[in-house]
Amino acid sequence: MERSLVLLKPDTIQRGLIGELIGRLEDKSLKISAMKLMKVSDDLARRHYEEHLEKDFFSDLFEFITSSPIVAMVVEGEQAIEVTRRLMGATNPFEAEPGTIRGDYGLDLTKNLIHGSDSAESADREIDLFFDEEEILNYELTEKKWC
Ligand code: RTP
Ligand code: MG
Repeated sequence: MERSLVLLKPDTIQRGLIGELIGRLEDKSLKISAMKLMKVSDDLARRHYEEHLEKDFFSDLFEFITSSPIVAMVVEGEQAIEVTRRLMGATNPFEAEPGTIRGDYGLDLTKNLIHGSDSAESADREIDLFFDEEEILNYELTEKKWC
């Protein structure tokens, strides 16, 4: 089983789309192993998006992700990273396919609703940034045999 860090960004919470977006992950049989509503600190934002620190869009990204609460989650499943990225759609909502989260709800390159880890290495690093190991629960979905 693979793990991915998913963040529902501030626009998801402000627009009342938490349930809708979590529903899409659940519909695809991803298991939520950890979840919390939280504010991203300045330090955490810089560490999470460290690969983008020098990019010209970093200040917009930083302002946005620290502006209002987010929901952080660890999701688990077979090929969870790839599956989540496909459900999210392209980074730019104008290019994201209808049927994807960003294609259906995304408004611009910053307000694109959701983050998902882009590789196994990123997932390990990001999960470690957002969660203590004891916050990640080990349990079985009992209806899994039907999925
Ligand atoms: P994320 O990390 O948030 O899941 O998004 P992503 O992998 O699809 O995209 P990434 O390249 O990691 O970029 C992180 C976030 O930065 C903003 N961005 N702006 N102006 C630009 O050219 C630009 N490029 C990226 C987006 O908000 C993206 O989600
Ligand atoms: Mg990314």
